[in-house]
Amino acid sequence: MLVYLNGAYLPGAEARVSVTDRGFLFGDGVYEVTRALGGRLFAGDRHLRRLTRGMRELELRWPEGLDAAALHAVSERLLRENGLTEGEATVYAQITRGAAPRNHAFPAPGTPPTVYVAAGPFAPRDELHARGAAAITVPDIRWGRCDLKTIQLLPNVLAKERAAAADAFDAVQVRDGVVTEGANTNVFGVIAGVVRTYPADSRILAGVTREIVLELAGELGLPIREEAIAVAELPEASEVFLTGTTTDVMPVVRLDGRPVGDGRPGPVARQLHERLRERMRQGAGV
Ligand code: PDD
Repeated sequence: MLVYLNGAYLPGAEARVSVTDRGFLFGDGVYEVTRALGGRLFAGDRHLRRLTRGMRELELRWPEGLDAAALHAVSERLLRENGLTEGEATVYAQITRGAAPRNHAFPAPGTPPTVYVAAGPFAPRDELHARGAAAITVPDIRWGRCDLKTIQLLPNVLAKERAAAADAFDAVQVRDGVVTEGANTNVFGVIAGVVRTYPADSRILAGVTREIVLELAGELGLPIREEAIAVAELPEASEVFLTGTTTDVMPVVRLDGRPVGDGRPGPVARQLHERLRERMRQGAGV
C-alpha cells in the first residue's frame, strides 16, 4: 500500500521515521481514524475539525504547505492510488511533534512535525451487529484530557486486551461509579426510555459517530440526555450500545457476563445503526 509521509507518497514498507521522533519517545502526537466509502471520506470535516482543535490545544503546528484541506486531499488521493474507490475503507492520519534530541520540553521552533497518513480496506462486522456483542467493564485509569485524540493509548490498549482475553468486543470504562466510554468507542444506554451518554467533557473523546448518532436520535424523535450512566443503573438498561468510526452502532447484549435487556440487540440500536449506514452512503454519494 502507498502511504503519505512528510510530503512524499511511498510504499508503506519503505516508510521510515526517526528513532528520535517524539511520537516514538513521548507519545507526543495526535491522530484520526476516518471512514471512507466509494473513495470519499465520511464526515471528513468533523474529523479534521477535531484534529485541528487537538493540534491547537497541544501547540502542534502544521508543516509548511499542509493544512486540514490539504490533508483531506492527501487522504482521498491515497484512497484512489490504493484502489479503494469502491467499497469501504479507513484512513489513519497521525501528526507528531517531529524528531529532536530527547528533552521533555518542546523542541526548537521550526522542528518539522511528522505527518503520516495511510488508507486500508474496511469490512463492517455485519454478523456481530446482527447478533450483538459482549463487553466487560474496567476501571478508567486515564489522564485528565481524554477529549484530545492523542496517540498515548496505553490504558485503552490494556482495556481492549482485557476485553479480548474475556472474549468480549470492548471494555466499558468506569470512573467514579459512572460509565465514561469504551476503549475506542463511546457508550450509550437506553434507560427508562431515554437515550443516555456521557457528556462531551474532558473525560471522554467527543466521538464523531457519537455526535452523528445523537443527531440521528433527535431526528427519530427519541428522548436524549447527555448525562452519565451510573454503573448501578446498568441492570435497568433496556439497551447498551457502542459507537465509533470502526464500530458504527454496535449493540452490547452481554455486559460482564450478564444479559443486557432481553439479551438481544434492541430497536434503538438497530434503528440508529440503519440510519447511520444510510447517512454514510448519502455522505459519500454512493
Ligand atoms: N477511536 N472514544 C475513544 C477513546 C476512541 O478512541 C474513539 C475512536 C471513540 C469514537 O470516536 P469516533 O466516533 O470519532 O471514531 C471514542 C478510533 C476509531 C481508534 O482509535 O481506532
